[in-house]
Amino acid sequence: MNIPKIGLGTFGSDKFTPKQVADAVKGAVEYGYRLFDCASVYGNEDLIGKVFEEVTENGTVKREELVIVSKVWNDMHGKGDVLLSCAKSLRDLRINYLDIYFVHWPFPNYHAPGCDIDARNPDSRPFLADEFMACWQQMERLVDMGLVKSIGMSNMTVPKLEAVLKLCRIKPAFIELELHPAFQQPQLFDYCLDKGIQPIGYCPIGSPNRPERDRTPDDIAAAEMPEIIEIAEAHGLHPAVICLKWSVQTGAVPIPFSVNNYKNNIDLTFSTNPLSDTELLKIKQADRNCRLVKGHVFLWEGAKDWRDLWDEDGVIAGW
Ligand SMILES: NC(=O)c1ccc[n+]([C@@H]2O[C@H](COP(=O)([O-])OP(=O)(O)OC[C@H]3O[C@@H](n4cnc5c(N)ncnc54)[C@H](OP(=O)(O)O)[C@@H]3O)[C@@H](O)[C@H]2O)c1
Repeated sequence: MNIPKIGLGTFGSDKFTPKQVADAVKGAVEYGYRLFDCASVYGNEDLIGKVFEEVTENGTVKREELVIVSKVWNDMHGKGDVLLSCAKSLRDLRINYLDIYFVHWPFPNYHAPGCDIDARNPDSRPFLADEFMACWQQMERLVDMGLVKSIGMSNMTVPKLEAVLKLCRIKPAFIELELHPAFQQPQLFDYCLDKGIQPIGYCPIGSPNRPERDRTPDDIAAAEMPEIIEIAEAHGLHPAVICLKWSVQTGAVPIPFSVNNYKNNIDLTFSTNPLSDTELLKIKQADRNCRLVKGHVFLWEGAKDWRDLWDEDGVIAGW
């Protein structure tokens, strides 16, 4: 698939209403965005769908020019549920196929929306390859049925990919991962490229508006890193745009959320001077290994802490 070099995120971070996000999607399509990162759990696919219907019917854009992404949420991994979830996203988005469909998180651990980070669901459990594959086989079936063009995985780790890639009939074409100058995930990123999987970078600006439940005192804001500010000043650009240029130039597809700056983001990321090799090296060396979306709420009872979700010891944690 020919994927655009940048897309628009659509998670309102508990702060922006579905209407505000849908308005941004409309403005962004009219301005030239073609890739939209949606998900059932963002709670706004129905309003975004009205925009897709309008812009394709009024001739602003053809459906086949759009790359529309959605994701199956954690409570819909069970037998038959992936098809139901996909059908609902298709209906809400008012389209008859998705370009990319992701498994949002690699375990079926549900939490109530907006719950406290200490909340634990007694049914939550660690990653299990067989359980994941039962979900993935349903994703493969959606491709067979023509409802989805490509399938992908999100919030994966190298050990989890090592466990499942060999079991896939249809390999993931995309991996969505947190990616910004303060959290570069070089091992996972290189692993994806090596396997021919295109990385799509979420929170590319360091998610300055993310929900309170996703914040901890040690978090580092990518756009406030001195290295990024210095490069931004040299280019006369906002640090956010430097983060996007870095993403694009290193081979990722960033999907920044924006209701106010989406025009600048698509303009300035591509129309201004690229970052030099020296600047790219400086950013590479500035990696703080600072994960922002830690996923506390997906932990199972008895898990040590959020690091267990990310297999930091190089093995799948939990069993
Ligand atoms: N797969 C997953 O599990 C997962 C997890 C998290 C996120 N995502 C996806 O990734 C998308 C992006 O992540 P995110 O929304 O958390 O964070 P983000 O894109 O890193 O940051 C978005 C914030 O940056 C601001 N911003 C954007 N461009 C700017 C600019 N040029 N100058 C100044 N500020 C700017 C936006 O404010 P304005 O609105 O004022 O421009 C917005 O508040 C989400 O919307 C979602 O689609 C996926």
